[in-house]
Amino acid sequence: MPLQKHHVVERFTRQLGGEPVWVVRAPGRVNLIGEHTDYNDGFVLPLAIDRAIWIGLRPREDGRVRVYSADYDQQAEFSLEEFVNQRAGWLEYIKGTAWSLQQAGYQLCGWEGVLLGDVPQGAGLSSSAALEIAAARAFAAASNLPWDPKAMALLGQQAENRWVGVQCGIMDQLISACGIAGHALLIDCRTLECRPAPFPSGCAVVVLDTATRRGLVDSQYNQRRAQCEATAKLFGVGALRDVSLEQLERASEKIDQSSFRRARHVISENQRTLAAAEAMSRNDLRTLGRLMDESHASLRDDFEVSSDALNTMVRCARKHPACYGARMTGAGFGGCAVAVVNAEAAEDFATATAAAYKNETGLEPAVYVCQASQGAELV
Ligand code: GLA
Repeated sequence: MPLQKHHVVERFTRQLGGEPVWVVRAPGRVNLIGEHTDYNDGFVLPLAIDRAIWIGLRPREDGRVRVYSADYDQQAEFSLEEFVNQRAGWLEYIKGTAWSLQQAGYQLCGWEGVLLGDVPQGAGLSSSAALEIAAARAFAAASNLPWDPKAMALLGQQAENRWVGVQCGIMDQLISACGIAGHALLIDCRTLECRPAPFPSGCAVVVLDTATRRGLVDSQYNQRRAQCEATAKLFGVGALRDVSLEQLERASEKIDQSSFRRARHVISENQRTLAAAEAMSRNDLRTLGRLMDESHASLRDDFEVSSDALNTMVRCARKHPACYGARMTGAGFGGCAVAVVNAEAAEDFATATAAAYKNETGLEPAVYVCQASQGAELV
């Protein structure tokens, strides 16, 4: 059962006394397809999930931000007039968001609050983007700022890129800010246009956590990104979005093998993502599933960001007759896979896949049947 507003209010009262003036919620996400395409100006198809970061807060007059994290049982604070980057810990995401809002010219007011969440950390479900967007929503409430979800997503991404130091794309912050209940969003990461893609009836989205972790910063994420950017430069274009598979093939002799395969993933993944959104609009779950399977193969063989655990999970998932398709989701190297399955058999799928995975790996996976939820909101 996901966290609810009353959990936040109760925690606030226990910790700080009285009641919060605002309760904000910003969801994690799972990406159906369109992986490692966002920083190549490409297309992604994520949904906001029913697991989120929550903040209950009330204003302070002294320009300080004081937060109690229930998950860490820690209290921390800083002054909005002067704060430095300590380079570790959950508070840096809130400071980083304050910093990027201030850089954009917003005058911020202080607040105190409690922070709670049920997005598993480091699992590839974007708990850090959800925290940045929750913090932005909290600052907007306390400082009476207009809430423009896309603008706030860009500022959340700035916090991640320039304060936390991870060169992520825009997908995670954008879907946490702009998600629509019952829908995935086809996002054009160049224009930030979001097109709602309703879920075909009779299907369920299942998140399969491999119980393996690999941090983004330590991972080869930045290296993959640099490789893609170098290849785009070779073609004299702004991003791999602007290169076709034919152009890539024709230039294959001028590009090293590894960069060629990275680019082939990105270009073909963009095509699959557009095709997947179209398949959803036709209620064509078989095609959606096949595209997800192909995406996994491309991430495994060409982009090389999968792992043994993810490959095993995907294999276990596909053995179940209710599964239309399955793939790793998020940055990779560990964390979660996602499957689209027949809704009527979703619980059986979840139990059977978890058991098969445990049997093969000895690891205890977590499996959630999830609902597409609303993006960041005051609740
Ligand atoms: C992480 C990043 C996103 C995106 C994915 C891979 O989640 O934060 O911007 O690049 O990896 O698709």
